[in-house]
Amino acid sequence: MTDEASQDAATRIADTGRQVVAAAETLADLAVLETTLLGKKSELSLARRSLGSMEPDQRKEAGAAFNATREALGDAIEARRAELADAELRATLDAEALDLTRYVEPVERGHVHPVTATRERLEDIFVGLGFEVVEGPNLETDWFNFGALNIPAHHPARGMHDTFHLDVGEPGEYVLRTHTSPVQIRHMRAVTAHRGGPPIYAVMPGRVYRNERTDATHLAALHQLEGLVIDRQITLGHLEGTIDTFIRAYFGSEFETRFRPSYFPFTEPSAEVDMRVPGGEWLEIAGCGMVHPTVLRNGGIDPEEWSGFAFGFGIDRLAKMRHDVSDIREFVANDVRFLSQF
Ligand code: DAH
Repeated sequence: MTDEASQDAATRIADTGRQVVAAAETLADLAVLETTLLGKKSELSLARRSLGSMEPDQRKEAGAAFNATREALGDAIEARRAELADAELRATLDAEALDLTRYVEPVERGHVHPVTATRERLEDIFVGLGFEVVEGPNLETDWFNFGALNIPAHHPARGMHDTFHLDVGEPGEYVLRTHTSPVQIRHMRAVTAHRGGPPIYAVMPGRVYRNERTDATHLAALHQLEGLVIDRQITLGHLEGTIDTFIRAYFGSEFETRFRPSYFPFTEPSAEVDMRVPGGEWLEIAGCGMVHPTVLRNGGIDPEEWSGFAFGFGIDRLAKMRHDVSDIREFVANDVRFLSQF
């Protein structure tokens, strides 16, 4: 081949080569094309063999032309390879994509039970006031549930608690707790043992049990929230301020409270708390009082040094009042039409 013929060949090989490379549709086709265009048996390689028979000057120019073609084809192949690889990846991703929503029946979202939500809201209010949240067991001994709270055997106050007695231990030894007040004793003892004593600022929520007929205002398994504060020089004023603050935080700042003298064996003096919107009806919502010295002693705390107050109310009852539910049994009937309103 002459120098001119070689240059023509180089140009033609480059042009046709670029066209077939651009037309390649798969990576596999491109790999075959690469061998055909640049391999040992390619037209380009064969044409280069004629370089050996040329004059040095001509060989130089023809060689440069072949090299340029080789480079141009190499670049074209790499560019096409990148395009095809990208397209094939996209196709794979599209083919393998999973739309999980296509296989799931739409379900309604649930939410926490209104009594649980109430309990959490109450806990939040008291935590905001600096109280800790403490829990105790539902299965109690007679002593923690009654005796330690200044309610000895045959005390008339036991008649107010219709108790579920359990068929374990000595007869009468175990009960399902009838109130959260025994957690006061457990917590006082724990604080004395582990922190060396008061101060105590705690609320104790949980389920309690009453062996009685249920009606629109009574449940046999209900929830209470107990409060206990023990510190130096705690007075009735602190008790009233705490209850008032909490009622207004939970029901609204327009609510007011009043305290009526009452009787509980574990507090002295004792009171019942009523609340209302101004001009409205007074509703009884809690029992409370200054912790009885005997109760402090049973909790391992010296009544000469410390004093405090306690209170207890029904969580379900508060939820009932706040949401204006006419029958408290709705909370345990598990009717979604009722529950979904909250
Ligand atoms: N334990 C009482 C009950 O279940 C409620 C109660 C009243 C709790 C007065 C107290 C309190 O802590 O001081 O009926």
